[in-house]
Amino acid sequence: MKLTPYEQSLLEGAEGRGVQKAMEIVVALGRIYGAEDLVEISSAQVAGVSYKNLGEAGLEFLSDWAAQGARVRVPTTLNPAGLDLHNWRQLGFDAAFAAKQQRVLEAFAAMGIPPSCTCTPYLVGNVPARGEHVAWAESSAVSFANSVLGARTNREGGPSALAAAIVGRTARYGLHLDVNRRAQLVVEVRCPVRSLSDFGVLGILVGQQARHRVPYLRGLDTTRLLNWPAGLDLLKTLGAAMAASGAVALYHVEGVTPESDEPDIIAPGAERITVTDLRAGYQALERGEQFALDLVWFGCPHASLAELEEIVRLLNGRRCKVPLWVTMARALRDEAARNGLLQRFEALGGHVVADTCLVVAPMQGLGFRCMATPCAKGAYYAPTHSGMAVHFSSPEACVEAAVTGRWIAEADEKVER
Ligand code: F3S
Repeated sequence: MKLTPYEQSLLEGAEGRGVQKAMEIVVALGRIYGAEDLVEISSAQVAGVSYKNLGEAGLEFLSDWAAQGARVRVPTTLNPAGLDLHNWRQLGFDAAFAAKQQRVLEAFAAMGIPPSCTCTPYLVGNVPARGEHVAWAESSAVSFANSVLGARTNREGGPSALAAAIVGRTARYGLHLDVNRRAQLVVEVRCPVRSLSDFGVLGILVGQQARHRVPYLRGLDTTRLLNWPAGLDLLKTLGAAMAASGAVALYHVEGVTPESDEPDIIAPGAERITVTDLRAGYQALERGEQFALDLVWFGCPHASLAELEEIVRLLNGRRCKVPLWVTMARALRDEAARNGLLQRFEALGGHVVADTCLVVAPMQGLGFRCMATPCAKGAYYAPTHSGMAVHFSSPEACVEAAVTGRWIAEADEKVER
């Protein structure tokens, strides 16, 4: 692999052990994947932030790296932490866990990374332009950056995204190259796909078929998807679900995503499949019958202000009987507080939980056993990652469950999707 004299000097330790270690990781990945050289990046998104996932070994690894003088040299944002950094005590999180989480964030701060703590960095100012090379971890954010923004990133792990941020470069392979951005699977969608939960279910079904391939979706309502901010929320949900059930890091939607109309975007010999029904996906995500409902969750990926506004509209002045949590970036929570939306939501018994989510937080310790959500990625992971039973349905059905305190299976039939 070709390195410039400057890159070679970093590899030899010219800027200290912390930078040298980062360059070793970036170069090692480049060699494994056959990269010809490195490419400069404009931003990074680092995952592996929750102490629940890092544990003591991860905390020590980060603290040592920071002590070795590692500092990021491009704007860098962080994935969700294991708890709400301001409100953890009121929400019932453990003080010992909170102290460990704080030390993780101190290590990142020492490397120059502020605690943005969100999986939607593109909603809080980290918005790479089309064609820009970046190094992002967090599969849903990777999908959004590649597919909706047209930026270029591989599906980085936590350490490799951090290493790239420290040296300002990543190895040029995979989705940094035009040839790998072509679709190898064409999906003809021949059923109505309307709500947030519909798009999530479609993503789960397509991800299972696509696995690591790039899908090209046809037949979706382009007007709905191009009508932002609601369309943005549908696209982030679709991509997050494909990245969860498969390893999809890039997708194209005909007439919607920026690279979908490029010549030859569909690779010769691409497989073709048809989706005619979403019911199997809804049934697969419904794993909640054994317990009474004790939590309703929106915000996977982290919610936008438009989603919060929509939840308040669906509540229609009614108070919640079971906790209704909306997870979102702290910067957006603060904006909601400034414009009065947060107060309208809290007056109805809702909670905006910032900095974390129900998959990376230690939910077992909070006593919740069964939740309802319209977020397909959250429903897909919550049983294994948080030990919770899950009811999955439309946003309307989930808000009804929060208001009545009961999960009504027929809610799906009552609410037109
Ligand atoms: Fe984000 Fe957590 Fe979902 S990190 S995409 S809210 S599982």
